[in-house]
Amino acid sequence: MREVGIGIAGFGTVGGGVLSILENHAPEIEARLGARIVVRRVAVRDPAKERAVSLRPALVTTRLDDLLEDPKVEVVVELIGGTGEAYDLVTGALSRGKHVVTANKALIAARGEAIFRLAVERGVDVYYEGAVCGGIPIIRTLREALASDRIQSLHGIVNGTTNYILTGMAERGEPLSRALAEAQRLGYAEADPTLDVSGGDAAQKLCILAQLAFGARLRPEEVLTEGILALEPQDFQWGRDFGYALKLLAIARRVERGEGEPPGLDQIEARVHPAFIPRDSLLAGVRGAFNAVLLRSEALGPSMLFGQGAGALPTGSAVVADIIDLSRNIVASSPGRVPLPPATPRVGLRAHAEIRCGYYLRFTVKDVPGVLARIATGLAQRRISIAAVQQREQADGGGAVPLVFVTHGAREADVKSAIAEIDRYDTTLAPTRLIRIESL
Ligand SMILES: NC(=O)c1ccc[n+]([C@@H]2O[C@H](COP(=O)([O-])OP(=O)(O)OC[C@H]3O[C@@H](n4cnc5c(N)ncnc54)[C@H](OP(=O)(O)O)[C@@H]3O)[C@@H](O)[C@H]2O)c1
Repeated sequence: MREVGIGIAGFGTVGGGVLSILENHAPEIEARLGARIVVRRVAVRDPAKERAVSLRPALVTTRLDDLLEDPKVEVVVELIGGTGEAYDLVTGALSRGKHVVTANKALIAARGEAIFRLAVERGVDVYYEGAVCGGIPIIRTLREALASDRIQSLHGIVNGTTNYILTGMAERGEPLSRALAEAQRLGYAEADPTLDVSGGDAAQKLCILAQLAFGARLRPEEVLTEGILALEPQDFQWGRDFGYALKLLAIARRVERGEGEPPGLDQIEARVHPAFIPRDSLLAGVRGAFNAVLLRSEALGPSMLFGQGAGALPTGSAVVADIIDLSRNIVASSPGRVPLPPATPRVGLRAHAEIRCGYYLRFTVKDVPGVLARIATGLAQRRISIAAVQQREQADGGGAVPLVFVTHGAREADVKSAIAEIDRYDTTLAPTRLIRIESL
């Protein structure tokens, strides 16, 4: 039987999952591939470390170059993480005509362009299914299953840590600090959760997905990104009253060019932020550390992928599926069978100020007559139309009360300018909380 030699760089959470799957599912893999995948080398930093999955000592090396220099390694599987050594390893492999599998979203989001260019030049492949949503085959779906279709929008819960935290806040009424501590205790959040709670991780993933779905070329810092740190339990309660669930969403959506706008590329909105969504929607039912991506495409209509977005075996399954696909290309002598995203963008980025959606605005105001009307006037002056208003509590003697407005679709710049004005009123006692509403 034909053998395909691979070298695995990194034997932590994902590396261990990859080897277990290769070993435990070997008969199925050989039957589906018609070839045998053979692990030639495994690179780690500390060979003496205790590991959850046992490793034959003869395979172990601490030199990443051993993977590059071994002619029997046809595929380099990069699972060390980071954008420095990982970049050198990946480009070193491609330069030598080796194929690459990686689960490294930071690397693809930050340096994908150079990596893809080199791969095309050398006639080799780069697969990266594990980089977004762990085990969920969203990248293969966009590259292959929906290759015939035109994607209109993508709404994803792509960060399990924040979804776990928000589920705790929604279901147990916990403040963010307690829900985060619980996520850390259970291993769903890192000791330093900044990249997750800031929305930065989701923005990296959105860049990768928007490239495949729309042909966008975005850097994470170009995505409108707001994390979950400012959310309070009362926002979940208000949202529930209006029929909403609150999720951190990664959103990319094709938008019409406005009348009078100069001709140019089609545009997309690209944003990551907490969003109210209908409580009976499929995405609202995605609880805990699970991930999901809802796509809308012209021919298929709505479709959704759901599953575990991280962990040894879920991510390992995506990485091994990539190794199998790449091995099929090698066996059939058809590298580049599924082309990498082209360097030239097919869409531009809509300015964030021009985004249109519904808004939840929680004002903190003095409980005196006329406040509601004054705010309504401030909104109406900017053509922001109000769908609902709620005021639950009353504070005697002009104390602070929350006053919640839900708007119909409005332009982001108009809403921001109305808030800036209303926050200057002497009856406004704290900065206004804005949460966007997605009808899905
Ligand atoms: N964990 C997940 O659920 C998940 C999900 C999706 C994507 N990913 C991505 O998968 C990648 C790996 O994540 P992970 O969670 O498996 O990380 P991890 O548990 O920290 O493992 C990293 C591994 O890389 C090895 N390593 C680091 N630098 C090295 C070097 N210079 N030379 C040789 N070995 C080196 C480490 O060796 P030692 O063991 O000796 O320290 C360790 O085995 C990351 O890009 C991550 O973003 C992870």
